[in-house]
Amino acid sequence: MAPPPHRLQLSPHNSLPTTTSATAVSRLSQLSSHIMGSTSTAGIFTAVNVPQAPEDPLFGLMAAYRKDPSDKKVDLGIGAYRDDNAKPWILPVVRKADDILKNDPELNHEYLPIAGLPQYTSAAQKLILGADSPAIKDNRVASFQTISGTGAVHLGALFLAKFHPHQQPRPTVYLSDPTWANHNQIFTNVGLSIAKYPYFSRETKGLDIEGMVSALNNAPAGSIIVLHACAHNPTGVDPSPDQWKRIAEVVRAKNHFPFFDCAYQGFASGDLARDAWAIRYFVEQGFETCIAQSFAKNFGLYGERAGAYHFVSPPNQPDNSIQHIASQLAILQRSEISNPPAYGSRIASIILNDPKLFSEWEEDLRTMSGRIAEMRKGLRSRLEARQTPGSWEHITSQIGMFSFTGLSEKQVQILREKWHIYMTKNGRISMAGLNSHNIDYVAEAIDSVVRETQ
Ligand SMILES: Cc1ncc(COP(=O)(O)O)c(C=O)c1O
Repeated sequence: MAPPPHRLQLSPHNSLPTTTSATAVSRLSQLSSHIMGSTSTAGIFTAVNVPQAPEDPLFGLMAAYRKDPSDKKVDLGIGAYRDDNAKPWILPVVRKADDILKNDPELNHEYLPIAGLPQYTSAAQKLILGADSPAIKDNRVASFQTISGTGAVHLGALFLAKFHPHQQPRPTVYLSDPTWANHNQIFTNVGLSIAKYPYFSRETKGLDIEGMVSALNNAPAGSIIVLHACAHNPTGVDPSPDQWKRIAEVVRAKNHFPFFDCAYQGFASGDLARDAWAIRYFVEQGFETCIAQSFAKNFGLYGERAGAYHFVSPPNQPDNSIQHIASQLAILQRSEISNPPAYGSRIASIILNDPKLFSEWEEDLRTMSGRIAEMRKGLRSRLEARQTPGSWEHITSQIGMFSFTGLSEKQVQILREKWHIYMTKNGRISMAGLNSHNIDYVAEAIDSVVRETQ
């Protein structure tokens, strides 16, 4: 940037004789402050006022992996799909949609509407709720295109913080223990307080359904309950349909507000309807609810930030509340991002609205979820063949991108330092980081570390 014309510039390239340069610099600087006046004060955003924030653990892990020169290194931290050669995979159907988009003579770079691309939000709504959803038929859904799933969770959090009728005190947001780390900061950043409900049982490495139901029962009536719709991150443990029914019962009995986060529809089981089962069940049961939907994983559109937020009013709502809700969401959206980015939603919209491309997408989803399921089977069978101490059944019973291995922080550290295998401290591994080239090495490493630390 060009300096303001009145400011004296002292650059190291100024050709003052070296013997006199120090004195000259000091005199010039005095002169400069004389001309400028002594109006400058210390900034208020000091290191004391703005504490150093810790590095995001996941992004720190990725940086450490990149720096590691070992040719054996394995990245099991990354929350993105990789093919069998550990490379990002552009879905073939996304390539096709991209070509269609590029060749569209009508394409331009105008702003999208505040609520996003209409043909995208309506298709996203049908995808998550089911095309024949009673809520869609009754016009009880307000849908907004968002900055991927994160933006959708944020928009929902902001709306609840601002419009929840109980402001004194505001309802607490209950998050599963553990949960996707970003949930904690998204809800606290909008001024809501958070609490945990038990979710993962360390003993069974499955769902602690009794602990969860009893915590939801003991939570103050009218709390906000965040539920992962499928492929729970980080544990890979989902409730069964019967367990979802029990969860719905307690949510209803306590008048809680269920807030669904759905980041893996179709990616979890390869079946779009199955992965949306819990959401559709709650909607059929007539709950007032909301859904944060991400297309990052299931379209491989991570960086394009395509997502949606849906608010669903209950049936027979006596007033036109959904129109009011939509109008307020529009104000929030306008003040935060004005209008959403176009590219990712255009790609998704082309695929979602074309039956042929849609079925090709389902095929791509099966390719991704199928490879992950193969890796689950492969890892479990290798550990069992080695008779690695402990039970490894959970590797195949868990679902989606992640597996909560049960490895301790110490074991995770040894895997990283000795074997160059990277995963989060809580022992979560991304199954997508495994492939036919590294699975034997990873199984050997886990086996060795488990025995070494017994
Ligand atoms: C549970 C959960 N919610 C939301 C997201 C949001 O992801 P994105 O903003 O990339 O769509 C993720 C991504 O990892 C997630 O695991």
